[in-house]
Amino acid sequence: MTVSTKKAPPAIVDNVLDVIGNTPMVRIKKAQGEVKSEVLGKVEGLNPGHSAKDRVALYMVEKAEREGKIKEGATIIEATSGNTGFSLAMVCLLKGYKCVLTVSSKASDEKLRLLQSMGAEVFICPSSAKPEDPDSYYSVAKQLHAEIPNSYYLNQNFDEANKLAHYTTTGPEIWEQTEGRITHFVCCVGTGGTISGTAKYLKEQNPDIQVIGVDAYGSVLKRYWETGEFDEKEIYSYKVEGLGKTIIPGNVDFSLFDRMIKVHDKDSAIRARELAQKDGLFVGYSAGAAMQAVHKMKRELTEDDVVVVLFSDHGSRYLGKIYSDDWMQDVGFSKEKKEESYNSYLYRKYKVRYKRIYNKVNYYINQSMKM
Ligand SMILES: Cc1ncc(COP(=O)(O)O)c(C=O)c1O
Repeated sequence: MTVSTKKAPPAIVDNVLDVIGNTPMVRIKKAQGEVKSEVLGKVEGLNPGHSAKDRVALYMVEKAEREGKIKEGATIIEATSGNTGFSLAMVCLLKGYKCVLTVSSKASDEKLRLLQSMGAEVFICPSSAKPEDPDSYYSVAKQLHAEIPNSYYLNQNFDEANKLAHYTTTGPEIWEQTEGRITHFVCCVGTGGTISGTAKYLKEQNPDIQVIGVDAYGSVLKRYWETGEFDEKEIYSYKVEGLGKTIIPGNVDFSLFDRMIKVHDKDSAIRARELAQKDGLFVGYSAGAAMQAVHKMKRELTEDDVVVVLFSDHGSRYLGKIYSDDWMQDVGFSKEKKEESYNSYLYRKYKVRYKRIYNKVNYYINQSMKM
């Protein structure tokens, strides 16, 4: 085992905000399957708030503070798929702001409970609502901002501070950790902040680095990148969380992409589980999506390539989803026969036995009544 002597973490920090960023990069040894190149996972789930959104929440709030846009006692509002919400709630809690979040009903129960655990006020909005509908999570956030005095709307989809957070931290980290060897950067696209900020920095160091954006089937982003047109026919509901959009966020810098790859819900779930089971990396659903994109590129990747894949969040957020065998079967992603739990075995066994005793007792009661 090698222990890095670079940048030893401070022994004691003032609060968890001081340990945001500088996440490790882990070599994937088994889950990469037939992919010949070196594949390195940038494990953002090891941030204190368990996702890359820690970087964004901290950077955006501190930038707005410096610019005088957030004042004492402010309420900070955001529309979020969950991760930004948790990171923002954590930042608000430690900085003394109130946090109000609008969340799509697609977010897992675990994610919702996490937001509430950090003291955020949560409004759940129907995932079926179109962005321009008044009950969409974007519209509700804007409406709350208009109604709540001394409030600040973070607006991670359009405020450039989102991608600046990654330009100033994630990009330089990846460049230094790979000592400039990176040849491909594979990253899911949601608001576009992670890929655009990181890729901008990386391409400034070496314009030959290939940037691959990962999109979901059911999202408009890839078609928009290809044609410049917003095609509503691309939109349908999908399960994987964090990537893909039904709007074109201002933070997606399409000019930086060399390629976009769409991935399916099922493949993404299976790849995430493989990362956990084969490499001990307990990562989120979108990490599986990014890994599926790497597998889709297996024919073109060579032994000389160094592929960095960004794993946006932690697996603990998906215990009731991709890490639940029941869920995998319920949604048709796995056909393996459910192993009966010991409790249900006991229940089944004793139910039969009780039934027999019950029948016997009933029989004797009936007999004695006949006498
Ligand atoms: C789990 C997860 N993966 C990927 C992304 C996409 O990151 P970005 O919004 O920076 O494009 C998000 C964003 O919400 C996310 O929560």
